[in-house]
Amino acid sequence: MEPFYVTTPIYYVNDVPHIGHTYTTMAADTIARWKRLCGAEVFFLTGTDEHGVNIERRAREAGMSAQAWCDLIAPKWQALWKRLGISNDDFIRTTEPRHVRVAQHLFQRAYERGAIYKGTYEGWYCPSCEAYYAEGELLEGKTCPIHKRGVEWAAEENYVFRLSQYQDWILRKIEGDPQFIQPETQRNEMLSFVRGGLRDLAVSRLSVKWGIPVPFDPAQTIYVWVEALINYVTAIGYLDHPERYQRFWPQAHHLIGRDINRFHSVIWPCFLEAVGLPSPKQVWVHGFWTVGGEKMSKTRGNFIDPIAEITSLAATSGAEWEVAADAFRYTLLREVPFGQDGDYSHAALVHRFNADLANDFGNLLNRTLPLVDRHFGGRIPAPGAPQGPDGALHAAAAAVPDAADARIGTFDFTRGLAEIWRFLGVANKYIDEAAPWTALKEGNSARAGAIVYNTLEALRIATILLTPVFPTAAQRVWGQLGIAAPLSAQRFADARVWGGLPAGAGIRLGAPLFPRIETRPAPPPRRAGAGRTPSARAADGAGPSSSDKGGGAMSEITIDDFNKVDLRVAEVLEAKRVAGADKLLELRIKIGESTRTLVAGIAQQYAPESLIGRKIVVVANLQPRRLRGVESQGMLLAANDGTRAVLLAPDSDVPSGVRVS
Ligand code: MSP
Repeated sequence: MEPFYVTTPIYYVNDVPHIGHTYTTMAADTIARWKRLCGAEVFFLTGTDEHGVNIERRAREAGMSAQAWCDLIAPKWQALWKRLGISNDDFIRTTEPRHVRVAQHLFQRAYERGAIYKGTYEGWYCPSCEAYYAEGELLEGKTCPIHKRGVEWAAEENYVFRLSQYQDWILRKIEGDPQFIQPETQRNEMLSFVRGGLRDLAVSRLSVKWGIPVPFDPAQTIYVWVEALINYVTAIGYLDHPERYQRFWPQAHHLIGRDINRFHSVIWPCFLEAVGLPSPKQVWVHGFWTVGGEKMSKTRGNFIDPIAEITSLAATSGAEWEVAADAFRYTLLREVPFGQDGDYSHAALVHRFNADLANDFGNLLNRTLPLVDRHFGGRIPAPGAPQGPDGALHAAAAAVPDAADARIGTFDFTRGLAEIWRFLGVANKYIDEAAPWTALKEGNSARAGAIVYNTLEALRIATILLTPVFPTAAQRVWGQLGIAAPLSAQRFADARVWGGLPAGAGIRLGAPLFPRIETRPAPPPRRAGAGRTPSARAADGAGPSSSDKGGGAMSEITIDDFNKVDLRVAEVLEAKRVAGADKLLELRIKIGESTRTLVAGIAQQYAPESLIGRKIVVVANLQPRRLRGVESQGMLLAANDGTRAVLLAPDSDVPSGVRVS
């Protein structure tokens, strides 16, 4: 198996970590753990970016030298990753001598090869990006497209990289290797950026003192963006561990956010080509998290601190902190397809925790282990000869490892996790249908034992596959299953064999790992139909009146009344927010061969992207109604306890258009 090298961007020491940074690092950690599980030799790198004017300025404000400032902050980043259970193999700081040496070495080499010349460089410069922009890239009022702040016209005598000479080369590379930049949208963006023409790039600064000196002209420092990228070859051992460098560099995968794509996908490969080094294997570009539809920022007050989110989840649920951290990681990776932008909400975290973790995963364990305890002396019972529904469970178990690998192993975390959850769904359905409690009542202890065995065996397989996303929770499940072989020794191959669970092992009953979070009590009962139509209720997120929860007085209807409601399975084709309404989503859905629009009040629970491709249930013959200027042709079904809406969906795949009765 090929070795695997994965990197995160190196984070500015000045930045305060938010969910965006955590997302990149957690995704990188997940794939690193996944590849280790699959048996690959993995090198996972993260670190801090410590040079440049912004850092110099910040240190001055703090009354410190730039180096002292970096020495103070870099360990905080290291501590954060440790707290979040990140399994990086190295942490690089760009002020380390090993990096200074490689940066100077490669810069010198580029100069000697004629790829760098001295010239006057002029352009619109954003000090926050530390980058030049072409006039056409600026926003109105000559502001930076990223920071929305004014740019400055800067002119300096600099060393300039002949980037324009590599235009054809990089174009051919991107065109010829569709996997080089992922996903497709980001690849296309880079193709049009390159086709728009590449200009030579100033790669040194006279005015920036806090940086690595140009080896052949120490009055200048190396431009931070070129210098920072070099960290990826420094850390893998370009000068210090040539053998390791040779083995891993061709397998390098850079994981980044879309704001820094062109540096990684265009400038960096061109620079490497100029110094005669190969390009990384792949640049994987993820999307941006917004909060309330807006960019996160301290000044807007919508800044999400990952530690605070996890602490709050742990406090409200009673889960162990590290397990809550796993749940947070799961939510980020599951909620939004990797590569797309998404909107973060605490409600989504709580919803995923309750629905996916407490119910689908935790509950499967919590309802099975007590049976072992009560009826089998606390020891895993023997598997029996397969019968009845066992076959479907075996088939699902045989399929899930490869299905998950095809997704998670290629950075498609959302679909990979969906595959594992589909399998958990099959296992939950299995124990419901096979009903070991009935077998026990009938005195058929052997059959009951076999069903319990099969269910726990499914959990063993799911747990192995989930270790990359749930490093702590998986460990806890493993402990409860009582399997002597350590989880850390389990490999992907162990998840591919049925029967790895040792009968006779002594289970350890424990407290639920994901204790359900009780949401706020529902508002006082309101009679159904009192003033508002069901579609209005569903659409504004208030949900059905609490009398629908079984407590209030609803008049009886006949089956004929019920049959007037045309309930159908529908598939979500597109989803977007309704402008000016924070609870509403506009969905384009398909019912059989026809498509239509529907407005639903679920925006606080569901990111639009997370709905695409999902099957839902809708009332298809409801009179159309305009909501915020959009005509809603029907209503979707959601369980609603007055605080949040949870979509109802078919238990297994059913074509759209099928009638629900
Ligand atoms: N120091 C440079 C990277 C140099 S790599 C040779 C840098 N650092 S950063 O700290 O500003 O950003 C680090 C990463 O966080 C980037 O990949 C960026 O895209 C990502 N994110 C920053 N905000 C984000 C969101 N709101 N959402 C998702 N990721 C975001 O850039």
